Amino acid sequence: MDGSSLSGRRIVVTGGAQGIGYEIALAAATSGADVALLDLRKDRLEAASASLAQAAPSVSVGHAVCDVSDREQVVAARRSLESGWGAADGLVNNAGIVIHAPAVEVTPADWQRVLDVNLSGVFYCSQVFGAPMLDAGVGAIVNISSMSGMIVNRPQLQIAYNVSKAGVIMLTKSLAAEWAPKGIRVNSVAPGYVRTEMTAADLETDQARQLWIGGTPLGRAGEPREIASAVVFLLADAASFVTGATLVVDGGYTVW
Ligand SMILES: NC(=O)c1ccc[n+]([C@@H]2O[C@H](COP(=O)([O-])OP(=O)(O)OC[C@H]3O[C@@H](n4cnc5c(N)ncnc54)[C@H](O)[C@@H]3O)[C@@H](O)[C@H]2O)c1
Repeated sequence: MDGSSLSGRRIVVTGGAQGIGYEIALAAATSGADVALLDLRKDRLEAASASLAQAAPSVSVGHAVCDVSDREQVVAARRSLESGWGAADGLVNNAGIVIHAPAVEVTPADWQRVLDVNLSGVFYCSQVFGAPMLDAGVGAIVNISSMSGMIVNRPQLQIAYNVSKAGVIMLTKSLAAEWAPKGIRVNSVAPGYVRTEMTAADLETDQARQLWIGGTPLGRAGEPREIASAVVFLLADAASFVTGATLVVDGGYTVW
């Protein structure tokens, strides 16, 4: 038996229209899983879905427009997927946003939005997509946290983001403990600096080169596919005795 295969599995990926989420969906699909993308942006979602179907023609690709911070939209997305694509036995909570501002200047709206998307969104999607997994007695959830949930990055000021990602790590442990007896594993992947739209502009600055790349023992930013391979491992039977864990994939940034 190939423990790294996802053949016969059905995986939902939030924030799957681009960046790390898209690469996770592609890696899951090329490992044999049917994949459904959830995202805010209809145009990008449709393009990503079409490109995924072309890259992995033997699997079924679904998508649903959804703001993960709105529980009713998450419920509607699940219903819409169930009426065509099917019910999920895997979920990757990847959607996330960042806002940079000094703590004293963070507006209540910005604070709330970051926590709503990055933390409440993970909770709502886990609840809504986890319910049928609980009924079936099988499932795997992977949450994309961040090394920012463990350390304070420099030089960018992003208190709400750091707090939200620390919350994702504890949410992962709490759900893992509660759902382990029901057959559901819950883990997280904590990326370091990865080249995506979220970081592309900053990665071009001298300050980021010095502090971000200079502070990374492997001496470079990660690529989205290097996060995706860790996620596929945690979704697959290869990780059958792993739950409540946070796998740090940061090129060594947090060891210094
Ligand atoms: N890029 C990095 O260096 C890095 C490092 C650590 C952690 N992460 C985390 O990885 C995840 C993906 O980041 P990325 O770099 O690919 O970002 P990205 O901005 O390229 O992609 C994020 C995707 O999430 C979607 N999204 C945003 N808010 C949403 C919402 N409310 N509902 C549904 N979809 C929503 C966006 O439309 C987009 O498609 C995030 O959780 C991020 O915090 C990224």
